[in-house]
Amino acid sequence: MILDGHDPAAITTTADALVRGELVGLPTETVYGLAADAGNEAAVRGIFAAKGRPADHPLIVHVASAAQVGDFAAEVPGFAQALIDAFWPGPLTLILPRRAGVAEAAAGGHTTVGLRCPSHPVAQALLAACATRGVRGLAAPSANRFGRVSPTTAQHVAQEFGDALRVLDGGPCDVGIESTIIDCTRGAPVLLRPGQIARADIERVTGQRLLLKNELSAPDPQAPGTLLAHYAPTARVRLMDARELRSALDVLGADARHIAVWSRAPLRPAARALLLRRMPDDAGEAARQLFAVLRDFDAAGVRLIWVETPPPDAAWDGVRDRLQRAAAAG
Ligand code: TXA
Ligand code: MG
Repeated sequence: MILDGHDPAAITTTADALVRGELVGLPTETVYGLAADAGNEAAVRGIFAAKGRPADHPLIVHVASAAQVGDFAAEVPGFAQALIDAFWPGPLTLILPRRAGVAEAAAGGHTTVGLRCPSHPVAQALLAACATRGVRGLAAPSANRFGRVSPTTAQHVAQEFGDALRVLDGGPCDVGIESTIIDCTRGAPVLLRPGQIARADIERVTGQRLLLKNELSAPDPQAPGTLLAHYAPTARVRLMDARELRSALDVLGADARHIAVWSRAPLRPAARALLLRRMPDDAGEAARQLFAVLRDFDAAGVRLIWVETPPPDAAWDGVRDRLQRAAAAG
């Protein structure tokens, strides 16, 4: 059932449901999460089961404020604290060494924990209500089945998990792609997943160069957050530059109704049945629309989604990453 997340009564009943060990759909500024009490192993196992997610693939723990970090992290390096001070609450997840004995199931057996303090007012209200009930953190992956497109509305979450799930409606997500993830357990900041926060801003705040995973001398073989084929709609996604796209459209025949296109370049489709959506020129706006566009295309029943390759600028890193992974899944 979908509840108005701005209704205080809905926050109260939802916090009570979390205390009872139930799962809940949670709006955040990035994407919607499927949340459970991070300290309740059975509830956390329920998340893995509902998503069809492998048990060693760790979940992010969401906290009400930076003051909660010490409940879960054994230690916070200086550069990680600087990131917390600069970007929390907000779309940034930090991987930190985990305190022994806490959030074991959420961490999927890893010795680290992913922590994030979301800025969405509904998430903030729910986390605060949970904290007063002794629930210090909410484990929450994106509220989609494993490997599929993340949800950016309460309706998307209901489409994934059905009406029985309690979902707080906080409106469409502002950011639209998942949080930036920075591994802070390796002595220097390492980018595991690009998001909305610009790498230049991250480097300015830490005073250090942000390493990429492939620069690590000993990459974590399990390195989660890095599965290539991810974020995939049912239709196959192909990335093309504007020229390739134009010539592909030129040779299209009657099959056009099985194809959807998302491009910045204005196109004049020869084929009438073609489903055409305009990709915004602004990277932030494109991120906001990305997952809803892929879901709309899927709902229209197309077999192929042709997407214009995003510009090479850093501002597009997050959108490009999600599209490349969606394309790799096909
Ligand atoms: O924006 C977001 O981060 C959303 C909202 C709901 O907060 N959550 C989200 O969760 O995207 P999920 O589970 O779909 O993606 C989290 C990623 C996963 O790829 C997971 O492997 C990685 O974070 N992760 C979580 N804990 C980790 C850890 N201890 N070490 C390394 N990676 C971790
Ligand atoms: Mg996810």
